[in-house]
Amino acid sequence: MLYAFELSGEHDTLPRAEVFACLDIAGAVYNEYAFFDQCLVVDLDGSDGFIEKKIKWMSKRLSMSHNVIRVAGICDNDVDTIINMADNSDINSHIIAGETYVVRAKRIKHHTNIHGANLEGKVGGTIYRKGYSADMENPDVEFRLILTGQCVFGSIVASINRSAYEARSPQKKPFFYPGVLMPRIARALVNLSKARDGDVFFDPFCGTAGILVEAGLIGTNVIGLDVQIKIIGGARMNLEAFLSDYSLFVGDACRVPLVDECVDAIVTDPPYGRSAVIKAESLHQLYAHSFAEMYRILKSRRMAVVVSEQPVDGFACDAGFIVVETYFQKVHKSLTRIILVLYKK
Ligand SMILES: C[S@@+](CC[C@H](N)C(=O)[O-])C[C@H]1O[C@@H](n2cnc3c(N)ncnc32)[C@H](O)[C@@H]1O
Repeated sequence: MLYAFELSGEHDTLPRAEVFACLDIAGAVYNEYAFFDQCLVVDLDGSDGFIEKKIKWMSKRLSMSHNVIRVAGICDNDVDTIINMADNSDINSHIIAGETYVVRAKRIKHHTNIHGANLEGKVGGTIYRKGYSADMENPDVEFRLILTGQCVFGSIVASINRSAYEARSPQKKPFFYPGVLMPRIARALVNLSKARDGDVFFDPFCGTAGILVEAGLIGTNVIGLDVQIKIIGGARMNLEAFLSDYSLFVGDACRVPLVDECVDAIVTDPPYGRSAVIKAESLHQLYAHSFAEMYRILKSRRMAVVVSEQPVDGFACDAGFIVVETYFQKVHKSLTRIILVLYKK
C-alpha cells in the first residue's frame, strides 16, 4: 500500500531521512517507491489498520512533514491526465458512504503551472459524480493533490501538528539564551538518533535543554550536562515547563560522570567556538575528548547525532564511531551547520 509523506521544504533531504528513521523506529516494513521534491512515497507492508496505527504514532514524532497521505494515484502533471487518474481511482478505501470531502491542491515550487484552484474543482467533480458530497468548511475527508515532479493524489490519514513546535520556540520558553536549535530541527535530530520511548537519552552540551525537551516529549528518559551552572539553572526551568522527569548536572563533557555503555541515544550541539562558552584547553581538545566520552557511554549498535560548524568527522572516527550520514544545513550567510549521524558498532 502506497503512502505519501508531504515534506516541509526546510531542507532537501533531512525531512526524508526523518521519515525513514521514524519508520524504522515504528518497526514498519517498507520500500521507497518514489522521492519527489517535498514528497516521499513509500510502499508499506501490512493491513490498512496496522499501517495506519503506525502512521498515527509517527505523526506525533515527526517535525519536518505536514501530512501523510494514503495514495490513490500518481500521474504526470497534466490536467486531463490528473482528472482521468482521479476518475479511475478506487476511492472506496478513502471515503465511506455519507462522508463529505474537500480536495486541496498544493503546488511545489516550479514543477508545474497548473492552476491549483481550478484543478481542485475538477477533481472534486469526479468524486461528486461517484455519489459523495463536498463540504469546504468541515469535510470528513481531505483529498490532496501534490503537484511536484509528478502529481500525487490521495487522502490525508494523519497530519503533523507543526504549530506545537512554534509554541516551544526558544523565545517562548521560561529561560532564553542565544545560539539554540529551533524545536523542529531538534526533534528531527532526536528522530535521526532512533531514540525510543523509555530509552536513556543524553545531551552532554545541553545548554538551555532545547534538544532534551524534544527527546523527553517522545517518552525518553533525558539526562543533560553543561559546564555552566547558570545554564543548567535555565535548562531546569525549561524542562520543568514540559516534562515531569529529567536529570541534569553541571560537569565537563570531556569527563562525563556516567558508566560505560549506559545511554541509548545521544544528540548534541557542542559549542562552535564563536560566541558559545568553551570550557576546555582548546576546541580541538574539547572535540577529541568529548567524542571519546560519547563513544564510551553509548551502548553498542546505537546512534549519536552531533551538530557542528566545522568538519568533526575525524574526531568521531578516531573515537570509534562510523559516520552513517552527513547533512549540511545553511542557517545564514556565514553559518552552515554540519549534522553527523554516527553509529557505534
Ligand atoms: C551551542 S550550546 C548548546 C545549545 C543547546 N542545544 C540549547 O538548546 O541551548 C553549547 C553549550 O556547551 C556548553 N559547554 C561548553 N564547554 C563545555 C564542556 N566542556 N562540557 C559541557 N558543556 C560545555 C556551553 O555552556 C553551552 O551551553
